[in-house]
Amino acid sequence: MEHLAVIMDGNGRWAERRHLPRLMGHRAGAEALDRCMHACRAAGIRYLTVYAFSTENWRRSDEEVSGLMNLLSSYIAAKGKTLVDEGVRFRVIGRRGDLSKKLQNEIAALEEKTQGGDFTLIVALSYGGRDEIVRAALKFREKFPGAGAEDIPPRELERMFAGCMDAPDVPDPDLVIRTSGELRVSNFLLWESAYSEYYFTPTLWPDFDQAEFDKAMSSYRGRERRMGGRFK
Ligand code: FPP
Repeated sequence: MEHLAVIMDGNGRWAERRHLPRLMGHRAGAEALDRCMHACRAAGIRYLTVYAFSTENWRRSDEEVSGLMNLLSSYIAAKGKTLVDEGVRFRVIGRRGDLSKKLQNEIAALEEKTQGGDFTLIVALSYGGRDEIVRAALKFREKFPGAGAEDIPPRELERMFAGCMDAPDVPDPDLVIRTSGELRVSNFLLWESAYSEYYFTPTLWPDFDQAEFDKAMSSYRGRERRMGGRFK
């Protein structure tokens, strides 16, 4: 497997069950992310994409939104050096223009500093799959102004369009994990996950550990990926 994507769900419930503020759940979620990243590297996976903040998450309370934004900012400040030292390339997908100028600058600086990393952590922020596709359509029109479906073969057209997504050089995810028992895609990587496998677990994201990771991997290994084709 080259690319794992994760919908890190259940932080709020994890905190509520402990009578803690929701933000403590997100903090524990950030630790689970570090564990998951290490597990990925040990398993030889080269790309990890995580859903940290959706376009819909802006509707949460001001307290939770600003808490999450501060958490991201302090994650970058606290982990930036470790990411460089460990060879982790940090990248962000989504509507980064929606974030504060300060956070945008911190992200850009970390992206620049970690460019040489051989493992890539992609954080989806103010991200929506439909939004990414709509923005890709606008980019496509700019990049290929005269392109019409009549004269371009469908596969080539798809390849050109894929080149307009937020991280066009990253391979599509092989597996998407969603924690906390919800059985939905929730607008995550709609274009990129066309042929991805899915793994759902009731475990809340802050409890997601090596044993859970191993279970997901062994479920994935047992699957037969036809990608729309048949055995010849
Ligand atoms: C979903 O749980 C989780 C989120 C909306 C935020 C995920 C963010 C982190 C794990 C923060 C760390 C990220 C980085 C990159 C440092 P929920 O709040 O919807 O949980 P609930 O469904 O139980 O309420």
